Amino acid sequence: MSIRPILRWPDPRLSTVCAPVEDPATVEALVLDLFETMYAAPGRGIAAPQVGECLRLFVMDAGWKQGEMTPLACLNPRFVQMSEAQAVGPEGCLSVPGVTAEVPRSAEVEMAFTDLGGQAQQVRLSGAAAVIAQHEMDHLDGVMHFDRLDPQARTALLAVYDAVP
Ligand code: NI
Repeated sequence: MSIRPILRWPDPRLSTVCAPVEDPATVEALVLDLFETMYAAPGRGIAAPQVGECLRLFVMDAGWKQGEMTPLACLNPRFVQMSEAQAVGPEGCLSVPGVTAEVPRSAEVEMAFTDLGGQAQQVRLSGAAAVIAQHEMDHLDGVMHFDRLDPQARTALLAVYDAVP
């Protein structure tokens, strides 16, 4: 296991649509690295493209900062249901340090994915976990949180980001 360097926007690898994971066995080491990198950052989610691996895979743990470990490794994830009800919260991103974005997200999602053992899984997520899953899912399509803001808010956020050392 090792902590991997986290790419910072505007690295072009963060704007790429990632390829599916063909064989879960080939990403075991990467998943462990992602967990270690996420906890060290410290963050609550990180996607494979953020460490330069363009694969449809992310890890998250919505509860660990409150002392409740809920690690989740999601291969080839997709949403099968997204609530109309929205939640808007300040969202950070390890690839855009120093800024947060108020992004409208579904308050509740049903997510299907493959686990590390190759088994199909489905989970219902709400609250912070739902927001994190939608944020990480976007990374797999090369979409950043600020891409979901209106142009004015996006420009304002990037001006602040540019000023971060
Ligand atoms: Ni992010």
